Amino acid sequence: MKQYNHRKYTKITTVDKKDRRWPNKTLDTAPQWCSVDLRDGNQALIDPMTPSQKLEMFEMLVAVGFKQIEVGFPAASQTDFDFVRKLITEDRIPDDVTIQVLTQARKKLIDRTYESLQGAKRAIVHVYNSTSKVQREQVFKLSKDEIKQIAIDGATWVKEGAAAQPETQWQFQYSPESFTGTEINYAVDVCNAVIDVWQPTPDNNIILNLPATVEVAMPNVYADQIEWFCDHIQKRDALIISLHTHNDRGCGVAASELGVLAGADRVEGTLLGNGERTGNMDIVTMAMNLYSAGIDPTLDFSIMDRIINVVEKCTQLKVHPRHPYAGELVFAAFSGSHQDAINKCLAMYEDGDTWEVAYLPIDPRDLGRNYQEVIRINSQSGKGGVAYVLEQEYGIKMPRWLQVDFSPVVQREAENTKAEVDVEQIADLFNTTYLHANANMKLNGYQVSRADGVDKFDAMLSHNDQQVSLSGQGRGVLEAFISALSQYLAKELVIIEYNEHTLGRDDGSEAMAYVQLSIDSKRVCGAGRSRDILGATLGAILNCVARAV
Ligand code: KIV
Ligand code: ZN
Repeated sequence: MKQYNHRKYTKITTVDKKDRRWPNKTLDTAPQWCSVDLRDGNQALIDPMTPSQKLEMFEMLVAVGFKQIEVGFPAASQTDFDFVRKLITEDRIPDDVTIQVLTQARKKLIDRTYESLQGAKRAIVHVYNSTSKVQREQVFKLSKDEIKQIAIDGATWVKEGAAAQPETQWQFQYSPESFTGTEINYAVDVCNAVIDVWQPTPDNNIILNLPATVEVAMPNVYADQIEWFCDHIQKRDALIISLHTHNDRGCGVAASELGVLAGADRVEGTLLGNGERTGNMDIVTMAMNLYSAGIDPTLDFSIMDRIINVVEKCTQLKVHPRHPYAGELVFAAFSGSHQDAINKCLAMYEDGDTWEVAYLPIDPRDLGRNYQEVIRINSQSGKGGVAYVLEQEYGIKMPRWLQVDFSPVVQREAENTKAEVDVEQIADLFNTTYLHANANMKLNGYQVSRADGVDKFDAMLSHNDQQVSLSGQGRGVLEAFISALSQYLAKELVIIEYNEHTLGRDDGSEAMAYVQLSIDSKRVCGAGRSRDILGATLGAILNCVARAV
């Protein structure tokens, strides 16, 4: 039989549900967040975090605003045990933050877990066992009742361990691991048994965490499972229903979003999605999805560069350049039409306005990025993008006719180098094309006089190391200068376009002038820069002439 054969996989099992309510709901508030970077994320690393990396990650999670942080699996790892001890003994856990630790439902491990937590002010003890059909039948070879008994025993030992350390404020969490591969009524049955042991109340609630340990279905199927679970579990008002999704089908975030619509209160995940295989649910994406819909995510990602730096250092995994919200390229526009649209919207946008900018779902500045990074130039880029970059970086406000002229120059460079053209290269191209074209044609002083409404322009021009005297007349200085050049070159010169502006606001700032000349019917553009407008304009004209001759 052919190896590549879809028939070896089974159809997705769905919940038989006719009364689903979650599709009609909207997300209006953020769920409770729990970061599992230091546990699930850490367990998935080629090189697990060192103690100092764990601490750096913990402190960053606190800075972002996490109030619940799963800090490790202390009974399974000495590093994790020592880390939990360090946090407690060195009093490193802020008063509004609760640490969480994971343990299997085994007496020895639960005892060791409580040992690690001695002296903690508050903690969540998270106990789990696997309940799915495949795990029961093939891994543990145990019946449904035997698997349920593991959960009951685990819950009992957790309760006893807590009772032995009453100085700590405890909260219990149970996960039927591989929940999505577990028959839904059986998952409810096991969780009801755990509830019977823990006897939660609305004032002393417990967390039931329902993991998509492996994502095996579409997010709507998970949402159905969550809604069904919430409808059938006992003591719903004494429970925090928590989600823990992985990303095997690429829908970890969507599954958690729909799961919250379906009734969940809390979401576990990691920063930028590190975790087993394809990763855990990415909290950055889910929280920023809320933020971009005008909902307070209760987490602050404005320090995105620091977050990326710490995550990359601790996980030794690079953040993908197209990672939602965080990637280096996610606010970049290369295509000309996108650049033009962004440019126009940004020109209209004022701080405090509702954000409505084409192609940018959020304001890059909210994540510590800036507009300069938005427009990136390659061979696909258009005139608007090039103009935007020059204005942002150098204050050069190219008029539209010059943008049209300059755009192919940049495009040619991108095509020749087969690479992105950065801001400095664009500025160099602008300077060599328009501003410094007149290297062999310079005015060595000039005089302007006026008589009977006519201006006279006299100058010394050095052209190809020769000194030439120029003289011309006209209505206005420019016309007189054009006439002088026209006579010297024996060509017809006409000014077609002219724009100027100052480069800064202070009195000492320089002026920029842009000119398009017709020289014997051939159009050519140039720019000039000087301390005064006249000097800049004469320079621009000379640059046009020098380019043409
Ligand atoms: O993915 C998973 O099921 C887990 C549990 C231990 C919660 O990480
Ligand atoms: Zn997990």
